[in-house]
Amino acid sequence: MNLNNVDLILTAGLTSQLPGVMSSDIPHVAFCGRSNVGKSSLINKLLGRKKLARVSSEPGKTITINCYDIDGQLYLVDLPGYGYAKRSFSEREKWKSLIDKYFSVEAQRLYLQLVDLKVGLTKDDEEMLKFLIIEDLPFAIVATKADKLNQTNRKACLERIEKHELVPEDAVVIPFSALTGEGVEEIWTILNEFCSFIKENTETEDSES
Ligand code: GTP
Ligand code: MG
Repeated sequence: MNLNNVDLILTAGLTSQLPGVMSSDIPHVAFCGRSNVGKSSLINKLLGRKKLARVSSEPGKTITINCYDIDGQLYLVDLPGYGYAKRSFSEREKWKSLIDKYFSVEAQRLYLQLVDLKVGLTKDDEEMLKFLIIEDLPFAIVATKADKLNQTNRKACLERIEKHELVPEDAVVIPFSALTGEGVEEIWTILNEFCSFIKENTETEDSES
């Protein structure tokens, strides 16, 4: 995958803009998490860019779904964050209708559920996780802003996430820092495995039909 060949192909603030320019053949990695947890920073770090995905000075300011096309092989989908207390009712409704529409678009998807390592799972994170589990959607957890903790606290915080009653025993939890780059390789390994899996399955289906 050529990481220099990256395009922001969609900034959707309206349900009518989905699926829009997204091809149904390309697998998606969707980034879920509350506002300010570090979704856009993670996308930038994965792509080795500083400012491709807009990092908010003010959390939850824009409610859009941003889709990055990576070399025509993978979409990275930056979902609008949840849990922003200052959001109005109509903004929350907008968030919900956009997310509902995104989930209804047919695609092979892997979800990266971001959780702030220091904060742990919030009530909203728990709701999101419950949804992923109930819908049987494949996900990995990325524990963000790992640089904010010293070794002792970090171990305790990581365990708190891993042992949370909603987190399945075999769930992957990857500590990540956009500042130090910790976790980037592990996350790319997961994304590459996901792409290979989808490719193999599509090829098998094609040869069977
Ligand atoms: P929304 O787009 O509002 O949903 O937020 P987001 O989840 O995309 O978060 P974003 O990447 O914009 O980061 C929010 C804030 O956290 C910014 O001020 C970032 O600089 C900061 N931040 C993100 N990742 C890290 C990290 O790994 N370590 C530290 N210390 N700060 C981070
Ligand atoms: Mg963002």
